[in-house]
Amino acid sequence: MSGIVAEKRSWAEPYKIKSVELLRMTTRAERESIIAEAGHNTFLIKSRDVYIDLLTDSGTAAMSDRQWAGMMVGDEAYAGSENYYNLEAAFHEHYGYRYLVPTHQGRGAENILSQLLVKPGDYVPGNMYFTTTRLHQERAGGTFVDVIVDEAHDPNSEHPFKGDVDIGKLDRLVRQVGAQRVPYISLEANVNMAGGQPFSMSNLRELHGYCQTHGILVMLDGTRVIENAYFIKEREPGYASKSVKSILREICDLTDGATVSAKKDLLVNIGGFLALNDEELFKQAQNLAVIYEGLHTYGGLAGRDMEAMAQGLREAVMETHQAARIGQVRYLGEKLQSAGVPIVKPIGSHGVFIDAAAFLPHLDRDEYPAQALAAAIYVEAGIRAMERGNVSAGRDPQTGDNRRPNLELVRLTIPRRVYTQAHMDVTAECIARVHAQRDKVGGLRMTYEPEYLRFFQARFEPIAAR
Ligand SMILES: Cc1ncc(COP(=O)(O)O)c(C=O)c1O
Repeated sequence: MSGIVAEKRSWAEPYKIKSVELLRMTTRAERESIIAEAGHNTFLIKSRDVYIDLLTDSGTAAMSDRQWAGMMVGDEAYAGSENYYNLEAAFHEHYGYRYLVPTHQGRGAENILSQLLVKPGDYVPGNMYFTTTRLHQERAGGTFVDVIVDEAHDPNSEHPFKGDVDIGKLDRLVRQVGAQRVPYISLEANVNMAGGQPFSMSNLRELHGYCQTHGILVMLDGTRVIENAYFIKEREPGYASKSVKSILREICDLTDGATVSAKKDLLVNIGGFLALNDEELFKQAQNLAVIYEGLHTYGGLAGRDMEAMAQGLREAVMETHQAARIGQVRYLGEKLQSAGVPIVKPIGSHGVFIDAAAFLPHLDRDEYPAQALAAAIYVEAGIRAMERGNVSAGRDPQTGDNRRPNLELVRLTIPRRVYTQAHMDVTAECIARVHAQRDKVGGLRMTYEPEYLRFFQARFEPIAAR
């Protein structure tokens, strides 16, 4: 165990606050009309109407003074920006992959990777789906197959590595369709849809061996891989005395490439990249980057964004940062647990995931309990959360039915370095109040459903007032 964890010392932030942004409070009557206008979808609420914003940890981090200083040395040349080379140096040092293709955000990298590797009729196994990742695989003609361990689908399982791949499930798929129809496995670190759950190094090592034997690539979704490395240090035998930096390198060395949304781990407001080891694939990826992203040395980013990302990476691998980051999320989770609110266990890295199915057992999945609960939390205190359940999962392309995943969750996502312990207290108190009156929360009917990633823009109305 690391000293910090074993001694149960405070997770106090390893920084002090130099600049603040004022928050606006609204009345309950205002919030009732705001949520109705937003079609009961928290993505459609204006930011100015939100008190504590726990919608996402994506692009919402507070940058450090050094990152802001980096913004001032942006080299905005179209080609060969100095900041690209600075980013490349930090990338080589910390991830260790051979080749870097910057992209405007994570899904830009997913698009290029899927177009390069997935052919119509292929299968892409993964440790649970992520919305944008699966959509790019499907649009390239592939079929996603979930090969995560069963425990990941059980909110009450205390398995320390719910992000692990079930190698038996993967092997069944490979035997059924043939390894030539499986271009890669999509391995997500700190699996978002499972509640921010890590994979273990021992599972990754076994997966790497299996995939090498069968000629299948291991492509990491490294969006939260540094947080995953911290969990390995905390939980996996043999890793307590290893640094997060060295664990990160060990993970990357066992994978063939990665797509990364830099808006999470890397403490920036925009950015991402595709990492590869194979030179031929890299050349093709650079070529696709000029169609979809911009020149291969900026990938849709300003020079200053790449500089902030390079510095963000250096700060993200600091153990004091991870201890405070994960400590704050755990603090909120433990408060909610002691108030009797059902949440996904163990508490994940980037947020606390409320088990909306257990919170609102009187609602059917097609009455969208998590969507309804996120709306009720907003009305109670102006706190913005988001749905991660039946709405996010979308429809089965074959049957057209709602997928009705086992996990029906509301995600309270904690932006990095933004909110204080008192904000966590207010959040826990608000949710405990909603919990005390949970039988008053009614279900929703979808009134507008966009074709892709419906959770972002869908609209709802209450089924009936209770
Ligand atoms: C695990 C994971 N992968 C990929 C993405 C997509 O990244 P972006 O939003 O930067 O396109 C996200 C974003 O939330 C994510 O959480």
